[in-house]
Amino acid sequence: MKVLVASNHEYAKIIQDILGNAAEVTLSDTTMESILEKGRDVDIIASNRVPRELLENESGLKMIQTFAAGVENIDFTAIQDQDDIIVCNSHINAAEVAEYAITLLFAVAKNIIPNDRELRKGDWKYAFGGLNPNIEIRNKTCLILGLGSIGSEIAKRLRAFDVKLFAATRSGSSKHTDLVEKLVKIDEVKPLVEESDFIILSLPLTSDSKGLVNENFISWMKSDSILVNISRGPIVNEKALFDALRDNRIRGAGLDVWWRYPKKWRGKGDPPSDVPFQELDNLVASPHRAGYSENTEREYFQFAGENILRFVNGETPFNIVDSHRGY
Ligand SMILES: NC(=O)c1ccc[n+]([C@@H]2O[C@H](COP(=O)([O-])OP(=O)(O)OC[C@H]3O[C@@H](n4cnc5c(N)ncnc54)[C@H](OP(=O)(O)O)[C@@H]3O)[C@@H](O)[C@H]2O)c1
Repeated sequence: MKVLVASNHEYAKIIQDILGNAAEVTLSDTTMESILEKGRDVDIIASNRVPRELLENESGLKMIQTFAAGVENIDFTAIQDQDDIIVCNSHINAAEVAEYAITLLFAVAKNIIPNDRELRKGDWKYAFGGLNPNIEIRNKTCLILGLGSIGSEIAKRLRAFDVKLFAATRSGSSKHTDLVEKLVKIDEVKPLVEESDFIILSLPLTSDSKGLVNENFISWMKSDSILVNISRGPIVNEKALFDALRDNRIRGAGLDVWWRYPKKWRGKGDPPSDVPFQELDNLVASPHRAGYSENTEREYFQFAGENILRFVNGETPFNIVDSHRGY
């Protein structure tokens, strides 16, 4: 079989090593032009994005393996009627993303960024007895939206901090139900939002979840609550969140994911939203970094290579995405 690996990372060769003689591997950069040119007659593409032209009928493509969990950049409408193409994603960084989500929560709750910023200027206004006492984590209630690979890792860790846990999922069920005190369907989440001190978003971006955290949802939140988003920006309505933070209608937010990304990955780009989040003090902002740690990048490629090898060997690969649900 022919495999195209689209990545700018040196680790892409890991896939080549894992596949050995089992498949013929071509490497590409991540531009759509290059993937289109090199991917015309391949059986498998390892990439987070695939040009629509390669998904349409008769392309011969059999498998797409992404490096990420979120697959909103794959156009499922183009493959929904093609039973012979599967898309597999990766949840390999779930524990790392969970650690990061909790770090964002703690950074907001404990004023870490303003403490640092002010003391560097020689200002002690956050010193003992100063502005905005730190928020205690223990004995608080946290609602986790999406109790899958990441949500369950968040729940496991927050239990150690004596946090009462609620969760909501699309179906109202999860194989991790025993980690939380209450689990509801997302349509029934309002009372849990009203009772929660912290809300963490760890659900995929789909047509159902887009704009889920809107003005209405935010109006149910406690005035001293904290929102953390490590999933995808558009699940939150940016203007509604900005207004609530600016007017101190909630205590703060920690955001790793955004509404706008630079055309060129890394380096200087436009601000990550149409509204000026960068002007808010009660926000901890992070440039989509939750899943990046000393080992995770190598692990993405290791997992992708092993999963592709399973497919090449005629076994059922892990993490086949439901093309109708989109995750
Ligand atoms: N910041 C980063 O670097 C980073 C890294 C990795 C992942 N992510 C994001 O995190 C997302 C979640 O990843 P994961 O690995 O935990 O996914 P996962 O294992 O597939 O879990 C998804 C969870 O979300 C729930 N869900 C789906 N749609 C929902 C909705 N409309 N309302 C409420 N709950 C809903 C699912 O419920 P059901 O089981 O009932 O369907 C499931 O519990 C990814 O899709 C990706 O966008 C971000």
